Amino acid sequence: MNQKMNIAIDGPAGAGKSTAAKALAKRLGIRYLDTGAMYRAMALYAIRCGVRPEDPEGMASILDGADVRVKYMEDGSQHVFLGDEDVTGLLRTPELSMGASNVGLHPPVRQKLAEMQRRVGMQYDIIMDGRDITTNVLPNTPYKFYITASVEERARRRLHEMEQRGETGKILEEVKDEIAKRDANDMGRAYMPLRIAEDATVVDTTDMTAEEVVDYLVRKIEEL
Ligand code: DC
Repeated sequence: MNQKMNIAIDGPAGAGKSTAAKALAKRLGIRYLDTGAMYRAMALYAIRCGVRPEDPEGMASILDGADVRVKYMEDGSQHVFLGDEDVTGLLRTPELSMGASNVGLHPPVRQKLAEMQRRVGMQYDIIMDGRDITTNVLPNTPYKFYITASVEERARRRLHEMEQRGETGKILEEVKDEIAKRDANDMGRAYMPLRIAEDATVVDTTDMTAEEVVDYLVRKIEEL
């Protein structure tokens, strides 16, 4: 099999990673893998099994039975399954955001999901985003980006997304606190924490539009 084009993106919650990655995948005509959705599905499985996502022994006891799968639909969109059940629509809740961050604390969980992600990268030209893609899943790709923005701006974007989905009732400060808590969990874990890879290009999107971010990424990829 030929070497595939793998583009790796990491960064904190709400920085615009998935928006940029999706648009970039479309422009380049390649696939997009949202690895956060796999951690979210793992957290959903844990909760359904009655295991707290932060409990290492509990997670170890259910890991073999966790059948997280990713499939691509004809329109190129990614769906996540637990066994045969399509759980894609259930994953974007605040409970599963923190649950995903907590299941990601445990080395065996990360190893299982990273292994699956590497296999997808060997099969397809793909853009992956997450928290350990540049540092752990695809460390050998030359295309590495760390996308970030100020915590205020990230909270504003998250709140806007929620409002667009018709979810009202949260105020900016609450969203900002949730994001800061999750950042601390993702950056502070002992095993494979979120960090900036030495050879990653850092993109601060605080004052950039989504389109400017994609234009910048395309230019950088052409240069690399
Ligand atoms: O990208 P997201 O917000 O859907 O990710 C949810 C959580 O999953 C994130 O806070 C930490 C965890 N995660 C991870 O540990 N490693 C990844 N590669 C992707 C997500």
